[in-house]
Amino acid sequence: MDSRVVEIKKSINKMKDIPTLSQVSLRLVKLLNKENASLNELSEIIKFDQSLAERIVGVANSPFFGYPGRINSIEQALLMLGFNLAKSVALGVSIFHSFNLEPKNLKNLWAHSYCVAVMSEMFCKNVPVSNRNVCFLSGLLHDIGRIVLFKHYSADKYRETHAQLNALHGEDLEAAETQNFGCTHSQAGEWFLQQLSFPEEIVLSVHNHHALDQETRHKGIVTLIYLAEGIVSHTAPDYLSDSEWTDKHEKLFRGLGFEQMHMDEFRMRIEQEREFITGFMG
Ligand SMILES: [Fe+2]
Ligand SMILES: [Fe+2]
Repeated sequence: MDSRVVEIKKSINKMKDIPTLSQVSLRLVKLLNKENASLNELSEIIKFDQSLAERIVGVANSPFFGYPGRINSIEQALLMLGFNLAKSVALGVSIFHSFNLEPKNLKNLWAHSYCVAVMSEMFCKNVPVSNRNVCFLSGLLHDIGRIVLFKHYSADKYRETHAQLNALHGEDLEAAETQNFGCTHSQAGEWFLQQLSFPEEIVLSVHNHHALDQETRHKGIVTLIYLAEGIVSHTAPDYLSDSEWTDKHEKLFRGLGFEQMHMDEFRMRIEQEREFITGFMG
C-alpha cells in the first residue's frame, strides 16, 4: 500500500476521536444507525449543543424547505423538517463544524455541499433509490474527503497543490489527487465514513460520486449525487465546484425528461439557496 495512504488512514482513525469529532457528532452517528430512533432522542442530543441548535434553526429557514413563516426554535425546526431531514441536517452541520476549518473554506464547501444535498433531495423522486432517507445526507457529505485531505495535509501540501486542483474537475481532479496524495477525496471520504460506521449506501455513493460507472450495488443513489453535483456545477460554478457538466450528465438529465426550462428553474433555486446558506454559516 502507498505509504501516503497508510498515513491518511492513520489520521482518519484519529479523527473519530474527540476532540476532532464532537461528542454530539458521534451521538448523532449512533442515532443514524439505530432502528426506531425518535425525534425526541434527536432533540435531546441537539439541545446539548446550543450553537448546533441555532445552525439547524437557520437551515430550517432556508427557501428549500419552504416554510411560510419564520422558524425561531429548535422544536419548531425539528417538527417542520421531520425526523430524517432533521437528522441529516444535524449530522452534516456538526461534522462540518467539527473540523474547524477557516470560515471562508467552510462557507464555500458547505454552500457547495448543501446545494448538492438540496438537488439530491429534489431528484430522489425521479431516480429510483433503495433508501430515500439517505439522499440529502449523501449530498451533504459527498465531498467530506476534501476536508479529510485538507486536514491531513494541513497548510503545507494541500495549499501547495490547491491552485492546480481547483482548476480540475471530476475524473481529472481524481487523477491529480492520486498523484499528489496517493488517493482521491472520494476514497478519503469513503474511509472516513466507513470508520464511523455510516450506512453502506452513503459510503458507496461518496466513494463513487465522480465515477458513475463503477458502482452497481447502489446505482440509484450514485446516479442521484452525480447528477445533482453536475447540475450545481453547471448552474453555479464557483471555485469549489469539483464536477463539470458532461455529455453523460446531459444524457441522464434528458433521460429523466428534463429540458432547458427545468435547468433555468434549478439555476434560480440553487442561487437562492446558496445566497441564503452562506448568509449564516460561519
Ligand atoms: Fe467531489
Ligand atoms: Fe462536489
